[in-house]
Amino acid sequence: MTMPRARITGTGSYLPEKRVTNHDLARMVETSDAWIRERTGIVERRMAAEGETTSDLATQAARNALEAADLKVGDLDLILTATTTPDLIFPSTATIVQHKLGGSTSRMPAFDIQAVCSGFIYALSIADQFIRTRACQRVLVIGAETLSRILDWNDRGTCILFGDGAGAVVLEADKDGKRGILSTHLHADGSQADLLYTSGGVSKGNLGTIRMLGNEVFKQAVRALEGSVDECLEANGLTKEQIDWLVPHQANIRIIQNTARRLGMPMERVAVTVERHGNTSAASVPLALDEVVRAGRIQPGHRVLMVAFGGGFTWGSALVRW
Ligand code: ACO
Repeated sequence: MTMPRARITGTGSYLPEKRVTNHDLARMVETSDAWIRERTGIVERRMAAEGETTSDLATQAARNALEAADLKVGDLDLILTATTTPDLIFPSTATIVQHKLGGSTSRMPAFDIQAVCSGFIYALSIADQFIRTRACQRVLVIGAETLSRILDWNDRGTCILFGDGAGAVVLEADKDGKRGILSTHLHADGSQADLLYTSGGVSKGNLGTIRMLGNEVFKQAVRALEGSVDECLEANGLTKEQIDWLVPHQANIRIIQNTARRLGMPMERVAVTVERHGNTSAASVPLALDEVVRAGRIQPGHRVLMVAFGGGFTWGSALVRW
């Protein structure tokens, strides 16, 4: 019997209305539009309104993905939400989303994944395992963040980088096993947590804000993403020319360009949203994916490589045959 593959049958996303431009930030910290554009590629990012939570963004993105897949929440067997900025310590954002979608009577399991900017790739990999082992037929995977809540608005090295948003995909078991997730590869290295972390947490007794040694993280991100590309190609016995699309984590345009170069991929085949979204952590890959899918640019049969790197450090890839 062929093993089922997890096929993406619907994508969705949601961005809060409020835009924060580089010029807005230049009124708050000592920075400039020119510096931010040149060093990061970011022009603006979105910010959740007061009272708007991660689960609000996640629910909207999930609704859009379910609609695209032509499914109802009751059809789902599992909901996974990747987030670093949950509404509450508990219940998980995934269970809050389940209820907001009207799915609580169906009682499907729902839980959160925390792997910072790699969270969506981690969640996708977990969903893939549930589908391949036939434990689930249909899984909703969401990446959603309100990073604006954990920024130090006096630290120009971090507050210019991040934004809020959500993206989601619906995965369904593809019985003939031809289309869907071909492989996922996950990694973590906790030894350099002092380069990228939050200055507080529940058991530390204060919420804290993002702290980062940007240029060191930059070097590590470039190296890890290059390794992820090579690892995925080797595992699937593919050459770079056989990859049709790159959907990378959106942290910095220079990191994205470097990963594209590693693949010999022209930038027209790279999903880029960093200029409009900034770094939305776990939401960035599904947000970028939804954009290129809805534009009709990804076609059936295309091989789509998603890669991410983030706090932990965590990093990884997922290769999908569309
Ligand atoms: N405006 C103006 N100047 C600034 C700003 C700013 N917003 N921020 C830093 N500077 C200054 C620094 O103080 C420094 O000044 P100095 O030379 O006088 O000391 C100078 O600019 C250069 O600073 P660097 O940190 O070396 O700048 P760099 O070119 O590395 O860019 C950046 C910084 C954009 C943060 C970059 O390093 C980066 O993108 N890093 C990777 C981020 C990333 O991938 N994170 C992983 C995911 S995030 C997550 O998981 C939560």
